[in-house]
Amino acid sequence: MKSKVLKILKNSRQEFVSGEKLSEELGVSRTSIWKYINKLREDGYEIESYPKRGYRLKEEADILSGDEIDPLLKTKAIGREIIYLPEVSSTNEELKRCSAEGREGLTIISEKQSLGKGRLGRTWTSLEKKGIYMSVLLKPNIQPQEAAKLTQIAAASVTLALREFGIDAKIKWPNDIILNGKKICGILTEMSGELMQLDHVILGIGINTHLDEEDLNEEIKEKASSIKLETGRDYERKMLLAGILNKFEELYYDFLDTKSISKSLAVCKENSIVLGREVRIIRKGMEEIKIALDLSEDGELIVKGADGKIEKIVSGEVSVRGLNGYI
Ligand code: BTN
Repeated sequence: MKSKVLKILKNSRQEFVSGEKLSEELGVSRTSIWKYINKLREDGYEIESYPKRGYRLKEEADILSGDEIDPLLKTKAIGREIIYLPEVSSTNEELKRCSAEGREGLTIISEKQSLGKGRLGRTWTSLEKKGIYMSVLLKPNIQPQEAAKLTQIAAASVTLALREFGIDAKIKWPNDIILNGKKICGILTEMSGELMQLDHVILGIGINTHLDEEDLNEEIKEKASSIKLETGRDYERKMLLAGILNKFEELYYDFLDTKSISKSLAVCKENSIVLGREVRIIRKGMEEIKIALDLSEDGELIVKGADGKIEKIVSGEVSVRGLNGYI
Protein backbone atom coordinates (compact mmCIF):
# COMPACT_ATOMS: atom_id res chain seq x y z
CA MET A 1 0.00 0.00 0.00
CA LYS A 2 2.89 2.32 0.85
CA SER A 3 4.17 1.77 -2.71
CA LYS A 4 0.76 2.61 -4.16
CA VAL A 5 0.67 5.91 -2.25
CA LEU A 6 4.15 6.70 -3.55
CA LYS A 7 3.12 5.84 -7.11
CA ILE A 8 0.17 8.23 -7.02
CA LEU A 9 2.34 11.01 -5.59
CA LYS A 10 4.98 10.39 -8.25
CA ASN A 11 2.41 10.37 -11.04
CA SER A 12 0.92 13.67 -9.93
CA ARG A 13 4.37 15.21 -10.17
CA GLN A 14 4.36 18.63 -8.54
CA GLU A 15 0.62 18.74 -7.86
CA PHE A 16 -0.90 18.30 -4.42
CA VAL A 17 -3.06 15.19 -3.92
CA SER A 18 -5.67 15.40 -1.19
CA GLY A 19 -5.86 12.83 1.57
CA GLU A 20 -9.46 12.26 0.54
CA LYS A 21 -8.52 11.41 -3.04
CA LEU A 22 -5.78 9.04 -1.90
CA SER A 23 -8.10 7.34 0.55
CA GLU A 24 -10.87 6.96 -2.07
CA GLU A 25 -8.55 5.70 -4.76
CA LEU A 26 -6.87 3.15 -2.52
CA GLY A 27 -9.91 2.22 -0.45
CA VAL A 28 -8.33 2.86 2.93
CA SER A 29 -8.98 5.43 5.65
CA ARG A 30 -7.34 8.83 5.71
CA THR A 31 -5.60 7.87 8.94
CA SER A 32 -4.02 4.93 7.11
CA ILE A 33 -2.93 7.25 4.30
CA TRP A 34 -1.30 9.50 6.87
CA LYS A 35 0.53 6.48 8.35
CA TYR A 36 1.83 5.46 4.91
CA ILE A 37 2.96 9.02 4.26
CA ASN A 38 4.94 8.92 7.49
CA LYS A 39 6.48 5.57 6.54
CA LEU A 40 7.56 7.09 3.22
CA ARG A 41 9.08 10.01 5.12
CA GLU A 42 11.00 7.53 7.27
CA ASP A 43 12.35 6.03 4.05
CA GLY A 44 13.71 9.47 3.16
CA TYR A 45 11.04 10.84 0.81
CA GLU A 46 10.32 14.52 1.34
CA ILE A 47 6.58 14.96 1.33
CA GLU A 48 4.96 18.31 1.97
CA SER A 49 1.53 18.39 3.55
CA TYR A 50 -0.95 21.20 4.09
CA PRO A 51 -4.38 20.77 5.73
CA LYS A 52 -6.55 21.83 2.80
CA ARG A 53 -4.33 20.85 -0.10
CA GLY A 54 -3.07 17.41 0.79
CA TYR A 55 0.30 15.89 0.03
CA ARG A 56 3.00 16.65 -2.51
CA LEU A 57 6.22 14.81 -3.19
CA LYS A 58 9.15 17.16 -3.38
CA GLU A 59 11.74 16.57 -6.11
CA GLU A 60 12.89 13.00 -6.74
CA ALA A 61 15.24 12.01 -3.97
CA ASP A 62 18.23 9.72 -4.39
CA ILE A 63 16.82 6.83 -2.40
CA LEU A 64 17.65 3.13 -2.70
CA SER A 65 14.31 1.80 -1.49
CA GLY A 66 12.61 -1.20 -3.08
CA ASP A 67 10.13 1.21 -4.69
CA GLU A 68 13.00 2.79 -6.63
CA ILE A 69 14.96 -0.36 -7.41
CA ASP A 70 12.16 -2.76 -8.28
CA PRO A 71 11.10 -1.11 -11.58
CA LEU A 72 14.72 -1.27 -12.75
CA LEU A 73 15.16 -4.99 -12.21
CA LYS A 74 14.97 -7.63 -14.92
CA THR A 75 15.54 -10.46 -12.47
CA LYS A 76 13.39 -13.39 -11.40
CA ALA A 77 14.92 -14.02 -7.96
CA ILE A 78 17.76 -11.66 -7.14
CA GLY A 79 16.44 -8.50 -5.46
CA ARG A 80 12.84 -9.56 -6.00
CA GLU A 81 12.35 -9.01 -2.28
CA ILE A 82 14.07 -5.97 -0.87
CA ILE A 83 14.34 -4.90 2.73
CA TYR A 84 15.27 -1.24 2.78
CA LEU A 85 16.71 0.20 5.97
CA PRO A 86 17.68 3.87 6.01
CA GLU A 87 20.27 2.93 8.65
CA VAL A 88 21.63 -0.37 9.94
CA SER A 89 24.69 -1.73 11.74
CA SER A 90 25.69 -3.97 8.83
CA THR A 91 23.54 -5.30 5.97
CA ASN A 92 25.43 -8.62 6.13
CA GLU A 93 24.67 -8.99 9.84
CA GLU A 94 21.05 -7.98 9.38
CA LEU A 95 20.60 -10.47 6.55
CA LYS A 96 22.06 -13.24 8.72
CA ARG A 97 19.15 -12.70 11.07
CA CYS A 98 16.65 -13.17 8.20
CA SER A 99 18.50 -16.02 6.51
CA ALA A 100 16.42 -18.92 7.87
CA GLU A 101 13.07 -17.66 6.56
CA GLY A 102 14.46 -15.62 3.69
CA ARG A 103 14.19 -16.85 0.12
CA GLU A 104 17.09 -16.86 -2.30
CA GLY A 105 17.63 -13.39 -3.69
CA LEU A 106 16.36 -11.51 -0.61
CA THR A 107 18.35 -8.27 -0.60
CA ILE A 108 18.96 -5.81 2.20
CA ILE A 109 19.92 -2.30 1.16
CA SER A 110 20.86 0.53 3.48
CA GLU A 111 21.81 4.19 3.12
CA LYS A 112 24.22 4.06 6.04
CA GLN A 113 25.98 1.42 8.13
CA SER A 114 27.21 2.12 11.64
CA LEU A 115 29.32 -1.06 11.75
CA GLY A 116 30.01 -1.88 8.11
CA LYS A 117 32.15 -5.02 7.93
CA GLY A 118 35.11 -5.48 5.66
CA ARG A 119 37.20 -8.56 5.05
CA LEU A 120 39.72 -9.84 7.58
CA GLY A 121 38.00 -8.16 10.51
CA ARG A 122 38.29 -4.67 9.05
CA THR A 123 35.57 -2.04 9.09
CA TRP A 124 33.91 -0.63 5.98
CA THR A 125 33.26 3.10 6.11
CA SER A 126 29.63 3.55 5.13
CA LEU A 127 28.65 7.22 5.15
CA GLU A 128 25.04 8.16 4.51
CA LYS A 129 24.09 8.15 0.83
CA LYS A 130 27.75 8.25 -0.16
CA GLY A 131 27.79 4.64 -1.21
CA ILE A 132 25.89 1.49 -2.00
CA TYR A 133 25.67 -0.96 0.88
CA MET A 134 23.80 -4.15 0.11
CA SER A 135 23.69 -7.85 0.91
CA VAL A 136 22.08 -10.63 -1.08
CA LEU A 137 20.95 -13.98 0.34
CA LEU A 138 21.92 -17.01 -1.76
CA LYS A 139 20.99 -20.63 -1.20
CA PRO A 140 22.83 -22.50 -3.93
CA ASN A 141 23.12 -26.24 -3.97
CA ILE A 142 26.92 -26.27 -4.03
CA GLN A 143 29.77 -27.51 -1.85
CA PRO A 144 31.07 -25.14 0.84
CA GLN A 145 34.47 -24.98 -0.87
CA GLU A 146 32.77 -23.58 -3.97
CA ALA A 147 31.44 -20.50 -2.15
CA ALA A 148 34.50 -18.47 -3.20
CA LYS A 149 33.26 -18.75 -6.79
CA LEU A 150 30.37 -16.48 -5.84
CA THR A 151 32.85 -13.70 -5.08
CA GLN A 152 34.21 -14.01 -8.62
CA ILE A 153 30.69 -13.88 -10.03
CA ALA A 154 29.97 -10.77 -7.97
CA ALA A 155 33.22 -9.08 -9.01
CA ALA A 156 32.38 -9.74 -12.66
CA SER A 157 28.85 -8.39 -12.18
CA VAL A 158 30.04 -5.14 -10.58
CA THR A 159 32.62 -4.66 -13.33
CA LEU A 160 30.09 -5.23 -16.11
CA ALA A 161 27.55 -2.92 -14.48
CA LEU A 162 30.19 -0.18 -14.13
CA ARG A 163 31.13 -0.64 -17.77
CA GLU A 164 27.55 0.22 -18.76
CA PHE A 165 28.22 3.63 -17.22
CA GLY A 166 31.41 3.93 -19.21
CA ILE A 167 33.54 3.25 -16.13
CA ASP A 168 36.55 1.10 -16.84
CA ALA A 169 37.16 -0.59 -13.50
CA LYS A 170 39.60 -3.40 -12.79
CA ILE A 171 39.35 -6.41 -10.51
CA LYS A 172 41.94 -7.06 -7.85
CA TRP A 173 41.52 -10.73 -7.08
CA PRO A 174 39.63 -11.91 -5.20
CA ASN A 175 37.21 -9.23 -4.10
CA ASP A 176 38.23 -5.64 -4.79
CA ILE A 177 37.19 -3.37 -7.62
CA ILE A 178 39.76 -0.76 -8.53
CA LEU A 179 39.40 2.50 -10.42
CA ASN A 180 42.48 4.51 -11.43
CA GLY A 181 44.56 2.36 -9.09
CA LYS A 182 42.30 2.92 -6.08
CA LYS A 183 39.74 0.71 -4.41
CA ILE A 184 36.14 1.78 -4.92
CA CYS A 185 34.33 -1.44 -4.07
CA GLY A 186 34.76 -4.45 -1.82
CA ILE A 187 32.89 -7.74 -1.67
CA LEU A 188 32.40 -9.72 1.51
CA THR A 189 31.14 -13.28 0.98
CA GLU A 190 30.15 -15.02 4.18
CA MET A 191 28.85 -18.56 4.28
CA SER A 192 27.01 -20.64 6.79
CA GLY A 193 26.58 -24.36 6.94
CA GLU A 194 28.39 -27.52 7.87
CA LEU A 195 31.61 -28.99 6.62
CA MET A 196 29.94 -30.87 3.75
CA GLN A 197 26.69 -28.99 3.45
CA LEU A 198 26.34 -25.34 2.61
CA ASP A 199 23.23 -23.73 4.05
CA HIS A 200 23.39 -20.19 2.72
CA VAL A 201 25.74 -17.48 1.54
CA ILE A 202 25.53 -13.79 2.27
CA LEU A 203 27.02 -11.74 -0.47
CA GLY A 204 27.84 -8.22 0.73
CA ILE A 205 28.78 -5.50 -1.71
CA GLY A 206 30.00 -2.06 -0.70
CA ILE A 207 30.70 0.65 -3.28
CA ASN A 208 32.10 4.10 -2.65
CA THR A 209 30.02 6.08 -5.07
CA HIS A 210 29.92 9.62 -3.69
CA LEU A 211 32.72 9.96 -1.12
CA ASP A 212 34.38 13.39 -1.24
CA GLU A 213 38.01 14.28 -0.50
CA GLU A 214 37.19 15.19 3.10
CA ASP A 215 35.62 11.78 3.70
CA LEU A 216 38.94 10.02 3.22
CA ASN A 217 41.81 10.37 5.69
CA GLU A 218 45.40 10.73 4.47
CA GLU A 219 46.21 7.07 4.92
CA ILE A 220 43.10 5.81 3.11
CA LYS A 221 43.38 8.40 0.32
CA GLU A 222 46.40 6.59 -1.09
CA LYS A 223 44.48 3.38 -1.57
CA ALA A 224 40.77 4.15 -1.75
CA SER A 225 38.54 6.54 -3.61
CA SER A 226 35.02 6.93 -4.94
CA ILE A 227 33.43 6.84 -8.38
CA LYS A 228 32.58 10.53 -8.06
CA LEU A 229 36.13 11.52 -7.14
CA GLU A 230 37.68 9.44 -9.91
CA THR A 231 35.31 10.30 -12.73
CA GLY A 232 34.19 13.80 -11.68
CA ARG A 233 30.66 12.74 -12.53
CA ASP A 234 27.57 12.12 -10.50
CA TYR A 235 26.02 8.70 -11.10
CA GLU A 236 22.62 7.61 -9.96
CA ARG A 237 23.20 5.01 -7.29
CA LYS A 238 19.95 3.19 -8.01
CA MET A 239 20.86 2.61 -11.66
CA LEU A 240 24.20 1.12 -10.70
CA LEU A 241 22.71 -0.98 -7.92
CA ALA A 242 20.01 -2.40 -10.20
CA GLY A 243 22.59 -2.98 -12.95
CA ILE A 244 24.68 -5.08 -10.55
CA LEU A 245 21.71 -7.21 -9.46
CA ASN A 246 20.68 -7.74 -13.09
CA LYS A 247 24.17 -8.87 -14.10
CA PHE A 248 24.56 -10.97 -10.99
CA GLU A 249 21.38 -12.92 -11.68
CA GLU A 250 22.54 -13.67 -15.21
CA LEU A 251 25.99 -14.92 -14.21
CA TYR A 252 24.90 -16.67 -11.00
CA TYR A 253 22.19 -18.78 -12.63
CA ASP A 254 24.50 -19.51 -15.54
CA PHE A 255 26.90 -20.96 -12.94
CA LEU A 256 24.18 -23.03 -11.27
CA ASP A 257 22.94 -24.30 -14.65
CA THR A 258 26.29 -25.10 -16.19
CA LYS A 259 28.28 -25.81 -12.97
CA SER A 260 30.94 -23.55 -14.42
CA ILE A 261 31.90 -19.94 -13.73
CA SER A 262 33.59 -19.60 -17.12
CA LYS A 263 31.48 -16.59 -18.16
CA SER A 264 32.38 -14.69 -14.98
CA LEU A 265 36.00 -15.79 -15.19
CA ALA A 266 36.30 -14.39 -18.69
CA VAL A 267 35.27 -10.97 -17.30
CA CYS A 268 37.55 -11.36 -14.26
CA LYS A 269 40.55 -12.26 -16.42
CA GLU A 270 39.94 -9.59 -19.03
CA ASN A 271 39.67 -6.90 -16.35
CA SER A 272 42.23 -8.22 -13.89
CA ILE A 273 44.71 -5.81 -12.38
CA VAL A 274 46.62 -8.74 -10.92
CA LEU A 275 47.42 -11.11 -13.77
CA GLY A 276 50.91 -10.82 -15.19
CA ARG A 277 52.00 -8.66 -12.24
CA GLU A 278 54.15 -9.13 -9.20
CA VAL A 279 52.01 -9.68 -6.15
CA ARG A 280 52.63 -9.75 -2.44
CA ILE A 281 50.66 -12.47 -0.73
CA ILE A 282 50.05 -12.50 2.98
CA ARG A 283 48.87 -15.84 4.32
CA LYS A 284 48.81 -16.79 7.98
CA GLY A 285 51.01 -13.80 8.75
CA MET A 286 53.63 -14.90 6.18
CA GLU A 287 54.53 -12.58 3.31
CA GLU A 288 55.65 -13.84 -0.10
CA ILE A 289 56.31 -12.20 -3.46
CA LYS A 290 55.12 -14.12 -6.51
CA ILE A 291 54.00 -13.58 -10.09
CA ALA A 292 50.27 -13.90 -10.76
CA LEU A 293 49.84 -16.07 -13.84
CA ASP A 294 46.17 -16.91 -14.28
CA LEU A 295 42.87 -17.79 -12.65
CA SER A 296 41.97 -21.47 -12.41
CA GLU A 297 38.58 -22.68 -13.61
CA ASP A 298 37.46 -22.63 -9.98
CA GLY A 299 38.51 -19.00 -9.57
CA GLU A 300 41.73 -19.60 -7.62
CA LEU A 301 44.76 -17.43 -8.32
CA ILE A 302 47.60 -19.32 -9.99
CA VAL A 303 50.97 -17.91 -8.97
CA LYS A 304 54.62 -18.68 -9.62
CA GLY A 305 57.31 -18.26 -6.98
CA ALA A 306 60.95 -17.22 -7.48
CA ASP A 307 61.84 -20.93 -7.31
CA GLY A 308 59.57 -21.57 -10.33
CA LYS A 309 57.01 -23.44 -8.22
CA ILE A 310 53.46 -22.94 -9.41
CA GLU A 311 50.57 -23.06 -6.93
CA LYS A 312 46.94 -22.13 -6.57
CA ILE A 313 45.80 -19.69 -3.94
CA VAL A 314 42.26 -19.99 -2.65
CA SER A 315 42.09 -16.91 -0.47
CA GLY A 316 44.33 -14.50 1.34
CA GLU A 317 45.45 -10.95 1.15
CA VAL A 318 46.98 -10.03 -2.16
CA SER A 319 48.64 -6.71 -2.98
CA VAL A 320 49.71 -5.76 -6.45
CA ARG A 321 52.93 -3.98 -7.17
CA GLY A 322 52.01 -0.72 -8.83
CA LEU A 323 53.34 2.75 -9.32
CA ASN A 324 52.90 3.76 -5.71
CA GLY A 325 54.11 0.67 -3.96
CA TYR A 326 51.56 -2.04 -3.46
CA ILE A 327 47.81 -1.50 -3.66
C1 BTN B 1 36.20 -5.57 1.83
O1 BTN B 1 36.84 -5.65 2.88
O2 BTN B 1 36.72 -5.16 0.80
C2 BTN B 1 34.75 -5.99 1.78
C3 BTN B 1 33.83 -4.84 2.09
C4 BTN B 1 32.37 -5.23 2.05
C5 BTN B 1 31.47 -4.11 2.50
C6 BTN B 1 30.03 -4.43 2.30
S1 BTN B 1 28.97 -3.05 2.52
C7 BTN B 1 27.57 -4.06 2.49
C8 BTN B 1 27.92 -5.33 3.25
N1 BTN B 1 27.64 -5.14 4.66
C9 BTN B 1 28.75 -5.15 5.40
O3 BTN B 1 28.80 -4.96 6.62
N2 BTN B 1 29.82 -5.32 4.60
C10 BTN B 1 29.44 -5.51 3.22
